[in-house]
Amino acid sequence: MEKALSWESAITEIVAEPGITLIIGGVDVGKTYFARMLVNAGVEAGVPTAVVDADVGQSEIGPPTVISMALVENRVESLRELKPRRMYFVGSTSPVGRLLPVVVGTKRMVDEAVMRGAKLVVVDTSGLVSGAIGRRLKMYKTDILRPRHIAAISRKHEIDTIISFLAKQENHQLYKLSAPDEVRSKPVELRIARRRLQFYEYFKNADSHKIRMDDVGFRGTLFGTGLRISWRNFRTIERVIRARVLHAEVASGAAYVVVECKPEGLDIKALAERYGAREYYVVCGKDFVNVLVALCDADGEVIDLGLIEEMDFEQRHMHVITPAMTVSPVRLVEFGAMRILRDGTELGHIRFGEI
Ligand SMILES: Nc1ncnc2c1ncn2[C@@H]1O[C@H](COP(=O)(O)OP(=O)(O)OP(=O)(O)O)[C@@H](O)[C@H]1O
Ligand SMILES: [Mg+2]
Repeated sequence: MEKALSWESAITEIVAEPGITLIIGGVDVGKTYFARMLVNAGVEAGVPTAVVDADVGQSEIGPPTVISMALVENRVESLRELKPRRMYFVGSTSPVGRLLPVVVGTKRMVDEAVMRGAKLVVVDTSGLVSGAIGRRLKMYKTDILRPRHIAAISRKHEIDTIISFLAKQENHQLYKLSAPDEVRSKPVELRIARRRLQFYEYFKNADSHKIRMDDVGFRGTLFGTGLRISWRNFRTIERVIRARVLHAEVASGAAYVVVECKPEGLDIKALAERYGAREYYVVCGKDFVNVLVALCDADGEVIDLGLIEEMDFEQRHMHVITPAMTVSPVRLVEFGAMRILRDGTELGHIRFGEI
């Protein structure tokens, strides 16, 4: 069912029949503002309310790159006042190239809110709605969340195709809402500055901790996913690569070598022919520095984020800057797709196979 209503009327209807509520719309249409109005209305009506912030770029709860869940106990002036109860690491400030973690993470956070008793679960999303990627993201998110309400906010016709798709389904109530004139757009520079401040705030009291590489599993990197090649064989590899080898491993036909410094004109094809591996990845030990990671416990839950300070391949330790009090429960280190300085400066994205 589809209804064109004012924001206030939509909120009144949603709160009267609380459930999972997905907010979708393009960039700068007032999604987050609407989310705040809705959670406040829920709290005032005495409905157990939670919010899931699934916008990894312009996050309100928790640092960018994560999807967070917070329970709302009192009225809030801004969603930023809320403390995340749970976080799911996406590892990038954009959902592009990370659709699976965005969809899985949103679902996990909604489940967590429901498990903790929330009856109104407000899901704020990113403004990625255009093109095949945006459409696919919103459609699969809707499929897995099965929301009771969908608030679709638009300025012009930017989400018309998504709306017409959703309007044909009857398992949710669809509210077609317009972006009010008061909505102000946030220029790219402001978006970057906001993220920088959020990362800075997150890491400002962080300390350096040592994690034993052999105590943890790795995800989001090729490192640590294969069988280690003994240092006794490093000399043979070094002769071909002409660089000092720090670490080497093989995983399903692919060889992965970490060197101290990448030599000029490295002929990977010659390496492949000589050692018969289908693929070769030669990466530089220094390329791990400043990589954003998530430190997770034995249940795979994010404890805190961290920034790699140093990989000591000889001692098999990694040094990570993190606000976590202790890293002893860490059992999984998940690599993100970005390098960040602890002052919040983004150093750019990491391509697959780069580390
Ligand atoms: N109904 C409203 N009345 C007054 N100001 C509003 C309203 N809705 C949004 N704004 C203002 O417009 C700006 C953009 O709104 P908001 O951040 O909620 O948009 P968004 O769709 O969540 O953006 P993004 O795509 O970055 O997530 C904010 O400064 C917000 O305070
Ligand atoms: Mg927003």
